[in-house]
Formats: sequence, structure tokens, C-alpha cells
Amino acid sequence: MCGIVGYVGKRDSQEILIEGLKKLEYRGYDSAGVAVYTDKGLAVKKAKGRLAVLESQLGESPLRGTIGIGHTRWATHGKPSDVNSHPHTDNSLKFSVVHNGIIENYIALKEELIAKGHRFVSETDTEVISHLIADLYDGDIVRTVQRAVKRMTGAFALGVLTEHEPEKLVAVRLASPLIIGVGEGENFIGSDIPAILEHTRNVYILNDNEMAVLTRDAVELMTIEGNFISREIFHVDWDIMTAEKAGFDHFMLKEIYEQPKAYRDTMGARLNVAGSGVELNEVKMSAEDVRGISNIHIVACGTAYHAGLVGKSVIERLARIPVETDVASEYRYRSPIIKPSTLVIVVSQSGETADTLAALREAKRHGARVIAITNVVGSSVAREADDVITTWAGPEIAVASTKAYTSQLIAFYLLGLHLAQTLGTIEAAEVAHTIAALKSLPEQVERVLEQGAAIKELAEQIATHEDLFFIGRGLDYAVAQEGSLKLKEISYIHSEAYASGELKHGTLALIEDGVPVIALATQEDLFEKTVSNIKEVKARGAYVIGIALEGDDELRKSVDQVVTIPRTLGLLTPALSVVPLQLLAYYAALARGNDVDKPRNLAKSVTVE
Ligand code: F6R
Repeated sequence: MCGIVGYVGKRDSQEILIEGLKKLEYRGYDSAGVAVYTDKGLAVKKAKGRLAVLESQLGESPLRGTIGIGHTRWATHGKPSDVNSHPHTDNSLKFSVVHNGIIENYIALKEELIAKGHRFVSETDTEVISHLIADLYDGDIVRTVQRAVKRMTGAFALGVLTEHEPEKLVAVRLASPLIIGVGEGENFIGSDIPAILEHTRNVYILNDNEMAVLTRDAVELMTIEGNFISREIFHVDWDIMTAEKAGFDHFMLKEIYEQPKAYRDTMGARLNVAGSGVELNEVKMSAEDVRGISNIHIVACGTAYHAGLVGKSVIERLARIPVETDVASEYRYRSPIIKPSTLVIVVSQSGETADTLAALREAKRHGARVIAITNVVGSSVAREADDVITTWAGPEIAVASTKAYTSQLIAFYLLGLHLAQTLGTIEAAEVAHTIAALKSLPEQVERVLEQGAAIKELAEQIATHEDLFFIGRGLDYAVAQEGSLKLKEISYIHSEAYASGELKHGTLALIEDGVPVIALATQEDLFEKTVSNIKEVKARGAYVIGIALEGDDELRKSVDQVVTIPRTLGLLTPALSVVPLQLLAYYAALARGNDVDKPRNLAKSVTVE
């Protein structure tokens, strides 16, 4: 998704903008640009492609100045091209705008502005903003931006500069994330904290319908109506190093290896000292509220949705509350039956996914209580939910989600136990037993990670294929879906996940000699049936890699290769069995020479519907 950086201070802004944009590269982008207020007025440089292209152009002819805005674009309206890149300007070149999000009424605005003589050069919705601001300008950029924003519908975050008032940088947030970094004699804007973290740890997080006016020495926060706001500074306590690779070749690999820590941190103080109960204090539901829950909807996208599939089994088994799962982009449009007694759980690593946020709002509109499971404190989802369970995975940079997914699983285990304790649906001894098993998970993940070299060899074998299948039953099927998504998104190998029992209803036709099948067989109660399904694919020539529990000699006889995971409770196996699948995807992508951390066509934070 697009990224925004802005600077006003005493230093050379070009460098700060480019370095900031580099920190946002993980979001995915196809072009980049900067606008700097130079001694000759506003100057813009933009280029299709990687930041390095822009950087080399700026190296040849730098834009010197101490105030500027920068942008990485992920195309929505108009193809990736130099001209469609941001910043956009008006015809007088005196106004410059960077924008994340979508202006829904841009066609109507564009027609109106064309009728007034404005000439447009790009296919973007953003260009309308710079023209609109130029058209409305009355000598006060803050007031003008407020008036312009009222004319626009959609979701956006903006950074605006004008040559008429060159000391000011105006920032606006309406449903697209934007933060303000507060420095000494310099201030920053960013669409995400890493963009500015090198310079300051003190940030203001803008809410929807708020704006900020930055000068070198001050930041004024106000609503888009112009009412001043006072807000406490949010101090960022994580280090820039945690957002860097720390010796690993890729962020994805680093993040896979960070999972034991992420598990420990997410469980943290939520497991009480005696180890006999869960204390989920951030869920402020009384026992009466919990007893009043008639049903649960879990809503999310992509990998977070796959965590929700596991969450459904966990909550149903532990707390015996009926749970439905929905992909967030479908939820609103299927007229879901949401009652005030429905509990809606939204899951989002970034907390900014547009579809998930829209689902959250739909749930609230129907009077439901919403719990958010998210990795980003202060994110939109976190701020709008009634209760927030933060996953303490730390910043996740690789586009392919790994440690955020497994931390979401931990959050579901904690929530399932919390609900079950409150409702009395499981015995205290079972709670204690489950907690003991949870506490063993980090060390067990470490043991799975020790098999990295063997998994790499398997990955190199499958990397030569173009089609592959994942099969499993029950929770293994939920994990198979995540394994298949992970492989697709970074290795570009086509794969499908199937409930093992469904194969013979059509998919078996695709199995022929040598087709790799990854078969998960970690659910002891379903083991015999899964083995029968494995035999079905073996009989058709499949090359089967089994994911089995340690000591499972029976499976070994039925498959070509085995990766084992340590034994744990059946319900907890997803937190272990997904790890070899993450490594398999990583090494397969590496073997195919792909850009593992930034796979083609994808973005880290999907802030458009
Ligand atoms: C895949 C992946 C995506 C995200 C999805 C939701 O590896 O990361 O499928 O899970 O875009 O993102 P969040 O969790 O930020 O809402």
C-alpha cells in the first residue's frame, strides 16, 4: 500500500524523505516521488519502479530544501507510471499533495474542475486534490484544506505543501493511518511509525477527521472543522533495530525465528503466576456479559482469517459458543445476522485493513460488541473496538505474515480459555493442563525451527513444480489453508488446500505422477481417516510430504518424506504445524529467486477495499 513521509525542519529534506520511504518499502509499492520546497519554489521528482530509481535521479539532480513530502504508490486509479506517481500538483505548480486511500467522488470533482479550466495530466484520483486545493485557496492553506476535505468523500490521509506558505506542512487523516513525529526544531509526518522512528520516538496518532499543521517549531492538532485538540504524546518504546533484519537474510526468516519470543510475549502476564488461569484483563466483559453471548462472528482477511478458522474450533471446543467465520470483504455484503448478543471478533495484524475495519463498523452499527485481536497498538481497529487483545509479536515487516498469525492463534487460545473459565464449560484441571501445554509451545517451536536445513531441502524439491496440494482434516485443514496461501504468495507456485475427505469429490482428478502433496496428520482423533486419504493420493502417484507428530511411525510408512512437530494437545497443534509450512514457503521462494519480503502484486497493509 501507499506510504507517506513528510518533513519540516532544518536538515536536507530529500535525504530524510528517501530514508523514511525506504522504511515503508515493506508495504509494497510500484512507484515513488518527492516534492521539496527549494529556493526556486516547489520542485517535484517522481519515478515508476523501485525507490532506487528515484534515488538515483535525485542523486544526479538533487532537490535542496528543508521542507518536503514523499510518497510510495501502490496503484489503484491508473497504472504504475511516472505521471501517476505522487506528489501531484496543480497547474500553477504551487500546490503539492501526497495521498493514501481513495477519493470516491473524484470523477465528479474532476469534471467540475475541468469545466473551470483545470488541466489534468494523470489518471489518478489524487490529482483532483491538488487542483481542488488550488481552486479553493484563499490565502490560508489550513482553512483551504478544511474546505477541500469537506468536498471529498472516501478514505484518505494527506500531506499538503504550498509555495504560498512554505513554512507549513498540512496533514489530514480520514480513515487512512497517519502519524505525526515530534522532534526538536523539526517535525515529521508518516503513514507508519518506522518511517520516522530514526528521528523521534514521540508521536501523535491522528484520529479520523483530524488534521495537523506542522512548522519547524510547532505541531498544532485540530479537527477538520478547525477546533484545536490537545493530545498526549505517544512514546514509541520499540527499537528501530527490531524493524531491521538483525543478521537474517530476509525479514520473513527473522520473523519466523522470532515466533518463540512472540508466543512468550503474547502469553506474558496473561497466564497467572500460579499457572492455573488466564487473566485477560483487557477484555472488559463482565461474567454476565459473557453469559449473554449468543454467538460469535470472527471476521478478518487472508492470513488473519486463517487464524480465525483455528479460533472458531478453539472457542467452540472450549467455551461451547457457536462461531461463524467470515472473510471481511464478504461480511458486510451478505447481510449477516448480527444481534446485540453477537460478539464480533475482528483479527488484523496491521489494524488498518479497510475491509476488516468496515466489518467492525458494520458490527457496531448493529449494536454488537467487538473484540479486536491486533498487533498494532493505536491502530484504527484497536481504537474502534470495545476490547483489544494485543498480540505482542513486534513489528512485522515481511509482506507474508508469520509471527503475527501464530500470535493471533495464541490470542485465540487465551480468549477461548477466558470464555470457558467464565462460563464454566471446562474443568479447572483442563484449564491448568492447557496452560501448561501453552507454556511449552515456545520451546517446542524452537525444536521445529531446528529442522530448517531439512525443510530447505524439501522446499528445493517442490520449487521445481508448478502445482501442489495441501491436505488435512479439522484443524489440520485450517493450517493447510494458511500453508497454501503462504506458498502461493511468495513462491508463486499454484497450490490449493483441501479438506482431505473432499479430495475424491473432484480434486483427485488433478493428482498424477510426481505431484507434491503436503499432508498434515497431527490430529490424533482423525489420524486413521487422514492416512486413508494419503493412500488415495499415493495410489495416484503423488509425492507426499507428511507433517506428523514426533514418534509417529505409522505415518512414515505411508508417505515419501516426513517433517515432525513435538507432541502437544490436539487443539494447540496449529501453533506448531504451521511453522514447517512457513519455512517450506520461504525456502521454495528463495530457490525460485523471488523477492521474498516483497512479493509481486502484494502489499503489507491493505487500506483499500
Ligand atoms: C498474508 C498476509 C495477508 C494479511 C491480510 C490481512 O501473508 O499477510 O493475507 O493477513 O492482508 O492483513 P491484516 O492482518 O493486517 O488485517
